[in-house]
Amino acid sequence: MERLILDCDTGQDDAVAILMANGAKNLKIEGIVAVAGNATLENTLENNLKLTEEINLDVPVYKGCSSPLIRKQIIAEGIHGKTGYDGPVFQKKRNKQCMGDGIDFIINTIMENPGEINLVATGPLTDIAMVIKKEPKIIDNVKRIVLMGGALMQGNITPSAEFNIYADPEAAKIVFNSGAEIYMMGLDVTHQVLLNKENFNRFEREQEENPTRVREIFIEGMRAYTKTCVAEIHEYPAMHDPCCIAYLIDPSLFTFQSRDIDVETKGELTYGKTVGLWPNINSKTHVGIGIDADRFFDILSDTLS
Ligand code: RIB
Ligand code: CA
Repeated sequence: MERLILDCDTGQDDAVAILMANGAKNLKIEGIVAVAGNATLENTLENNLKLTEEINLDVPVYKGCSSPLIRKQIIAEGIHGKTGYDGPVFQKKRNKQCMGDGIDFIINTIMENPGEINLVATGPLTDIAMVIKKEPKIIDNVKRIVLMGGALMQGNITPSAEFNIYADPEAAKIVFNSGAEIYMMGLDVTHQVLLNKENFNRFEREQEENPTRVREIFIEGMRAYTKTCVAEIHEYPAMHDPCCIAYLIDPSLFTFQSRDIDVETKGELTYGKTVGLWPNINSKTHVGIGIDADRFFDILSDTLS
């Protein structure tokens, strides 16, 4: 059993990560923490509360940081919509309440369960940096940090930088230099799992054959996400954040390169770039470079069924 805390800026693909974790037999979600990123904290928190209640996922939801450590806040309304999670039609009135401060929740849960908790981050790394600053002993007590962010090659919000890192480069620099065991799902690997027409049609077929509420929500969200991705960035939506969950379900899906990563916080053209230092088999940072995309979509299909 892999136990995890999910820190996310829900967000279309963050929502898929939640749906995937919800359906994975070998995962136990200890709690979900909302962070600002794709949308404001108010919206990402609302989306986490609404989605977990809608699918009867009985896990506590907390709130993390509402703005980056230093830089001016940016959000990705163009891709994720006004609410940060446009598309799904929620049938329940949201009654679920936020349980309070997410930074303290992460620290307490990890320190009370040394070596047991995976800290999964699928948004900007503001909360993770705050956790490390507030309790440095986290580094030796967290099982691993699995994060979606960065890219060895080209970025997506600028040619140099990927959105989660660019939204808070100073926080990312703290995390990548912390000494924690990190599994980085950057664009190098997440761009290998695009929800193209063929992959999307599979889920529509499965919904016709054996309808589930979870898969219905997935399809409604992905219809909206596909529309904005094709319009804004002229490509099918990549399953960025679900790669973190897929790793915990079956690490053998991935191939990694071990190398330290640092983050550019001074460059004008390269602000927010994750720079791969020389490959080093002893590095505690493992950068995703390959994925078995077919098996990824098989696993996603299982978790939605
Ligand atoms: O660059 C992709 C990342 O930015 C994903 O986590 C997506 O949800 C957005 O936050
Ligand atoms: Ca995200």
